[in-house]
Amino acid sequence: MSAKKRYRPLWVILHWLMAILVFSTFGIGLLSLAYQPNTPAKLVPLAVHMALGIAILVIVIARVLLRLLVFRPPRRATQSPTIKLKKQPILDQLNVYVHPLLYLFTALMALLGIAIAIPANLFTTVLGGAGAALPADFYIYPARTWHGTLSLILMLLIAQHVLVAIFHQFLKGENFLGRMWFNKDNR
Ligand code: HEM
Repeated sequence: MSAKKRYRPLWVILHWLMAILVFSTFGIGLLSLAYQPNTPAKLVPLAVHMALGIAILVIVIARVLLRLLVFRPPRRATQSPTIKLKKQPILDQLNVYVHPLLYLFTALMALLGIAIAIPANLFTTVLGGAGAALPADFYIYPARTWHGTLSLILMLLIAQHVLVAIFHQFLKGENFLGRMWFNKDNR
């Protein structure tokens, strides 16, 4: 496969780093934070969740800037502008909308998290190590409900993204994941 059809190494690193961070942040949010009372035992998972969420926001901004200013990732053959969108599989048709929405919703999730953290004083209490008591319930802040609701939408978007990869890699037998990996011609 020619270098033009592959992603550059920095792009590959940011993509997989982002995937790891998003899954970890989701994991902590859903498996720990959502069910735990706001006791001091919650400070550590909350601190990790917040730090990972902010790292995600930084990476999303970096990826958008890179895309706009430095490097536009290549299209796949089936995404060629000469092939009409309607003739492509439905999962690929959805990609046109899902890719920008993935950026938008991950950034929004992080911003909503920050919108909970600021009024709840979490940057001092949790990340600053001040050790003050957490609010009894984060749902007193409107952003908390939105943070939970948008997480469901983001999960659906990620599910589509993963299904596209499974469809092309394993059902159609294409070297789909190879495009998002290091190869000697993209180094
Ligand atoms: C893309 C980044 C993020 C993702 C995917 C994410 C995901 C989640 C999820 C899935 C939950 C549980 C939602 C529920 O069950 O209703 C949650 C809760 C929470 N998140 Fe995030 N989050 C992100 C970023 C952030 C950031 C940057 C902060 C703060 C700086 C933050 C602060 C919180 C807080 C305070 C809660 C509520 C915990 C509770 O109610 O006990 N999140 N997050």
